[in-house]
Amino acid sequence: MGRQRKRVVTGEAAPPPRKDEKPSALHRKEKKKKVDIGKIFINISIGLCIFSLIWFFYALYMRSSLAKRVVTLHPSSHVLDANSSSAKVSPERFWGSYRPQVYFGMKTRSMMWMRQFSDLDVNLRHTCEQGDRLQGYGWLMHDGITFGVQEIRDNDFTLTTEFVKKMGGDHGGDWTWRITAKQHSSAPQAPVISLMFYAAADTQGSLEAHVEERNRLASITGFSEELGNFKITFRKPVTGELSSAKYASSLSFQLQLSSDCSPGLEKLTDIVKHSLNRRFVYSSPSGEKRHYIAVDTYKPPHHQNQQNPADIRKESDFVVHQVTVQTPFQIEVLFESGSFHNRPNQLVGSIMTQELEKRKSEFDTKFEKTFGLESKGYSHSHIKFAKAALSNMLGGVGYFYGQSVVQSVYNEYPLLYPEGALFTAVPSRSFFPRGFLWDEGFHQLLLSKWDPQVTREAIAHWMDLMNMEGWIPREQILGDEARSKVPAEFVVQRNENANPPTLFLGLQELIQQFSSNPDKTASQATLPFLRRLFPRLKTWFEWYNTTQTGPLPNSYRWRGRDKDTNLFLNPKTLTSGLDDYPRASHPSADERHVDLHCWMALSSGIMASIAKLLGESHQDYELSHKVLSDNNLLNELHWSEQLRSFSDFGNHTQAVSLQQEKVYVPPGQPRHQFPVARLVRSVRRAPKQQFVNALGYISLFPFLLHILTPDSPKLEHILRDMRDSNKLWTPYGLRSLSKSDPMYMKRNTEHDAPYWRGPIWININYLAVRALHHYGNAEGPYKEKAAALYEELRTNIINNYNDSTGRGQGSHPFTGWSALTVLMMAEQY
Ligand SMILES: *[C@@H]1O[C@H](CO)[C@@H](O)[C@H](O)[C@H]1NC(C)=O
Ligand SMILES: *[C@@H]1O[C@H](CO)[C@@H](O)[C@H](O)[C@H]1NC(C)=O
Ligand SMILES: *[C@@H]1O[C@H](CO)[C@@H](O)[C@H](O)[C@H]1NC(C)=O
Ligand SMILES: *[C@@H]1O[C@H](CO)[C@@H](O)[C@H](O)[C@H]1NC(C)=O
Repeated sequence: MGRQRKRVVTGEAAPPPRKDEKPSALHRKEKKKKVDIGKIFINISIGLCIFSLIWFFYALYMRSSLAKRVVTLHPSSHVLDANSSSAKVSPERFWGSYRPQVYFGMKTRSMMWMRQFSDLDVNLRHTCEQGDRLQGYGWLMHDGITFGVQEIRDNDFTLTTEFVKKMGGDHGGDWTWRITAKQHSSAPQAPVISLMFYAAADTQGSLEAHVEERNRLASITGFSEELGNFKITFRKPVTGELSSAKYASSLSFQLQLSSDCSPGLEKLTDIVKHSLNRRFVYSSPSGEKRHYIAVDTYKPPHHQNQQNPADIRKESDFVVHQVTVQTPFQIEVLFESGSFHNRPNQLVGSIMTQELEKRKSEFDTKFEKTFGLESKGYSHSHIKFAKAALSNMLGGVGYFYGQSVVQSVYNEYPLLYPEGALFTAVPSRSFFPRGFLWDEGFHQLLLSKWDPQVTREAIAHWMDLMNMEGWIPREQILGDEARSKVPAEFVVQRNENANPPTLFLGLQELIQQFSSNPDKTASQATLPFLRRLFPRLKTWFEWYNTTQTGPLPNSYRWRGRDKDTNLFLNPKTLTSGLDDYPRASHPSADERHVDLHCWMALSSGIMASIAKLLGESHQDYELSHKVLSDNNLLNELHWSEQLRSFSDFGNHTQAVSLQQEKVYVPPGQPRHQFPVARLVRSVRRAPKQQFVNALGYISLFPFLLHILTPDSPKLEHILRDMRDSNKLWTPYGLRSLSKSDPMYMKRNTEHDAPYWRGPIWININYLAVRALHHYGNAEGPYKEKAAALYEELRTNIINNYNDSTGRGQGSHPFTGWSALTVLMMAEQY
């Protein structure tokens, strides 16, 4: 090998013989050449040496610059101004229920500091251990900006939390919450409830508690740079006739935390837990005394006490206020901004009631105007459900700030991504209270109908998180609080991994709104928004189009499949969004994925529309769209004639199963001294290059994303497979994997229950209903069939969610993309 290289180099180093050289000269030259060989060798070796040194430094340089790429943000100017979320620029959205992970909390959209104490944050949590076995909680109404009504059902009682905001002054205005508690069990003794209120100020702010007689906290006044002066008032509980005011008790304490040991908000619960004490006593009217738990003085965990008291500087404030009352009762908490002068009246009592009623009726009117469910003849309970579904998505919008942990192949260790803010809806307030790239596109399909500004801001925030390569981390685990909730193996985001570019679905909706009504004010904001977004969109598309290419021209392949084939029945493809949906049994570079092909066809088409709207060059996108939508190409790459369905292609065998690993126990030795047998994969027949026979959502993609032409004979097979109860059809929607597939409802490991191997997912069912609507309205041989199936599938899904509490099958609470049911009810696609 080394010799060969040397020879090649020598050859290059020798001057080529000139045509006009005389024979004698040639002879002499040969001689001379012989003499020179040593020199040439020396030269060569010096050359090589220098070359390799340069190469070495170059490699070092490249390595470090390549290693930095993953954490270098995209160079184009941000879509959002740095001040876009501030109280000045966006006062009506400044305060909000932006911490979806807590039962109820108000938060500002503020991105000034990294520490979690960055903003004034008031949380209410129903506490005392039973808090996590709630029957249900969710927003019944929420308009995304000015008010919300939430119901929290516990075993014996219901808490209704309502907030109203009122604009005024320079810092996002005032707001009031009202908490109403009612018993709903028939227990003889009305439940006694403790509510905890927390207020935390940032390091530059201050809080001062004002305590009345009998240790009752009446108010907190404070100041912070962003909020100016403010006052939080805790009104006395108003109790029902049956319970006497004697039951009400309130306790509070204030902490002054040093900067070195000031815990983040994620630790607040711990602080409160550390401060709980059982020594408090209640006297009921009958004279009976009962102990109860309440906040006492805070005893920080041990190590924090070990520093020199002189080092502890007063830097941040934290006030906890506990109110203990017997149900029924009502409490109001007011936040008033000092810059709001000439306030006409305080937002309390009957004024609060009036304001709430007004917002509720405005909400109802806007809801009907937007979705028209009453005019479609829906029942009261259906409409109530639809309102709750939308409200839960709006109430699940959070404002997060922090850094992701990322890694590329050029990094030995994970790195911190640049700090960033994310305004996004979340899949679930309890399990997944953070942003997920592919979920967000589906969320925005609904939110864009209600308030396109939310969609513009959410998409802008996501796109502003893009790095210079065009990559966006797909799961946004920002900050310590979020990280504390995620298993370590999911925290690090890798820049070779994609996620379906569903934000294009939201953009498609914005473009459609603009095209159908270019004059409306909401639409007018679309063009400048797209203009600022465009440089990033271009890079984003290019990133997919270059990093996720497949083995054949115009084919695509998801990167980031599970590598350890032995441990899984079928190595997962988390990046595709359809985690454990069966793909080729043996991941390889020869794979091509039909869903990604379709996402690329869709994205290139939307890129072409956007470029056209902006007067930018659109020919490349149009060409890509044409090529990728070409049904002949699609059939060639993905249609399996044998399986009669669209499929992935790869190194595959269906003859796999999970088996107990054999553990050899030598005779006479006790069995328990050897490791427990794991389940490992056994492959009974060698894999080969072929189409992957796994009928399910993947097979539907050319239909789901409207890539098939309405006259495509493939539609017939697709419609038939969908309607077949032994395959995809159920009375509740389409299952993710055919009931006849060997992997149907199979576990992937002993710990991984089936996820996309049978269960019904609403986002894909929404796409299916939308596609049936599309093909049911397009001229072609399958028009009637598609239209009939449309009615049937849509009705099944809607009826599945006919539940006045707004809960679907097992989802708790009802949030995330399940709310797309509202669009199916409204028939807006
Ligand atoms: C917000 O920032 C932009 C540019 O970053 C600036 O043009 C604008 O005037 C600022 N708005 C306010 C209210 O400060
Ligand atoms: C996408 O990639 C293909 C293959 O590399 C290329 O031919 C095409 O021009 C690209 N599309 C765009 C819009 O850049
Ligand atoms: C398919 O996978 C098997 C097992 O990993 C491997 O031995 C074989 O070479 C692969 N075949 C192809 C064509 O890649
Ligand atoms: C929905 O549920 C309500 C209450 O359970 C019931 O009265 C109503 O008939 C149901 N509607 C449909 C369309 O099933």
